[in-house]
Amino acid sequence: MSTDNNSTSRRQFLKATGGLAVASLLPNLGIAGLFAGSSDLIQIAIVGCGGRGSGAAVNAVSTTSGPIKLIAMADVFADRLTSSYDNLSKTIGEQMDVPEDRKFIGFDAYKHAMDSLKPGDVVILTTPPAFRWVHFKYAISKRLNVFMEKPVTVDGPTSRRMLRLAEDATAANLKVGVGLMSRHYIGMQELHERIQDGELGEILLMRGYRMHGPTATFQSLPKPAGMTDLEYQIRRFHSFLWASGGCFNDYYIHHIDHLCWMKNAWPVSAQALGGRHYRQNAAGGTFVDQNLDTYSVEYTFADGCKFFFDGRCMTGAHGIFSSYVHGAKGVGVAARSGDFGGPQATYRGQVVSREAMLWQSTNESNPYQNEWDVLIHAIRDDNPHNEVKRGVEASLVCSMGRMAAHTGQEITFEQMLNCEHEFAPEVDKLTYETPSPLMPGADGRYPVPQPGLKGDREY
Ligand SMILES: NC(=O)c1ccc[n+]([C@@H]2O[C@H](COP(=O)([O-])OP(=O)(O)OC[C@H]3O[C@@H](n4cnc5c(N)ncnc54)[C@H](O)[C@@H]3O)[C@@H](O)[C@H]2O)c1
Repeated sequence: MSTDNNSTSRRQFLKATGGLAVASLLPNLGIAGLFAGSSDLIQIAIVGCGGRGSGAAVNAVSTTSGPIKLIAMADVFADRLTSSYDNLSKTIGEQMDVPEDRKFIGFDAYKHAMDSLKPGDVVILTTPPAFRWVHFKYAISKRLNVFMEKPVTVDGPTSRRMLRLAEDATAANLKVGVGLMSRHYIGMQELHERIQDGELGEILLMRGYRMHGPTATFQSLPKPAGMTDLEYQIRRFHSFLWASGGCFNDYYIHHIDHLCWMKNAWPVSAQALGGRHYRQNAAGGTFVDQNLDTYSVEYTFADGCKFFFDGRCMTGAHGIFSSYVHGAKGVGVAARSGDFGGPQATYRGQVVSREAMLWQSTNESNPYQNEWDVLIHAIRDDNPHNEVKRGVEASLVCSMGRMAAHTGQEITFEQMLNCEHEFAPEVDKLTYETPSPLMPGADGRYPVPQPGLKGDREY
């Protein structure tokens, strides 16, 4: 395949996979020597070979600062690994060397894939977030650099664990990227700079909206016969809180992250509403997922500033997918369409109108690629780079809003961080035979949030 064809099919593949849319633990033994220079080969492995894992692998090998090769793949389901392998072979085949004995299936597959790498290589962690801390811990023990997808946690106990692991990774001089890519979108970075320079004045209010029809695995009907609850829930992870934090954490994290970044602060508390309106499909089948159809959150910052976020997955209702920053002097559009879509812009006064426009961004480079360029440069140049702490904090702020809606209580950042409800305490010990962390009741239904009835747990 010619170079041109290669890059065309790579772009097409990225589009299809969502790429475009895809101190205490270790002694520091002169670890700088572990890192690749510009001409050294960096090997990568994927753990979680779905849409984003495949997309991230393409981004990895598309970095231009030196040779990179995909050499190992791991998944819990053989069909997922096979389809990812087949697709990647067509698009990045020349930068892949994954023979049968470096394709690993099972709940311990991650260990074998990481054992195939050498210290200083990179592992891509793109399973549902429930498994993130398990895989990150092993990556640190193997002295691997990491790219991990968002969200990185779904509850209080795993957030505390991940914060400790983030410190271990920094102490071991490992470089870690987290897939909150809107912070790597150039227009968003320019907007952030303009806000810090005072173009909008003091920030008084922020608004984020992600409202569209049901998408991905937001809704789930009862599991089919012949499949375990565990397999069903992992395959449909957006439906189940232990696996993903639900649609709230999975879908809303980008707006929550980039708006809080614009203010350089995390909210200290949240109160929220949510409701389940449509729980049956047209054929009368009952949805058994744990998501609410609507969420409306009021976040409060320490200085009293408010951030309102509305999320809705409902067919036929008005769709909005954008975010705004209101300051004393003007308004900024952070995401015009989607998680980060530009152009970003600033306006005099509070009305978004062409006449009042002060500035509009023009750089539309791909943030999924930018975040990889930054990571690989950090590895080759041995620059400090660890995005896990803010990844945990963004995930925690999502959990705070979700828990406020699910319990009907005001939830503070500190309460969420110190919450003792761990959704999947034995997730590191799962096998195909173990029961799922979420089992149905006698009626075949999984437990769902009951705001007002349960205050310190979401289900
Ligand atoms: N940054 C973004 O814009 C973006 C876009 C899409 C997805 N994501 C994130 O990427 C992650 C994956 O999402 P996706 O859409 O690729 O889902 P997916 O279902 O397509 O892929 C997940 C893969 O992980 C595998 N898996 C599950 N548990 C595993 C385990 N314990 N060990 C090994 N493999 C396991 C699954 O079989 C599947 O192949 C999620 O956290 C999601 O939020 C981020």
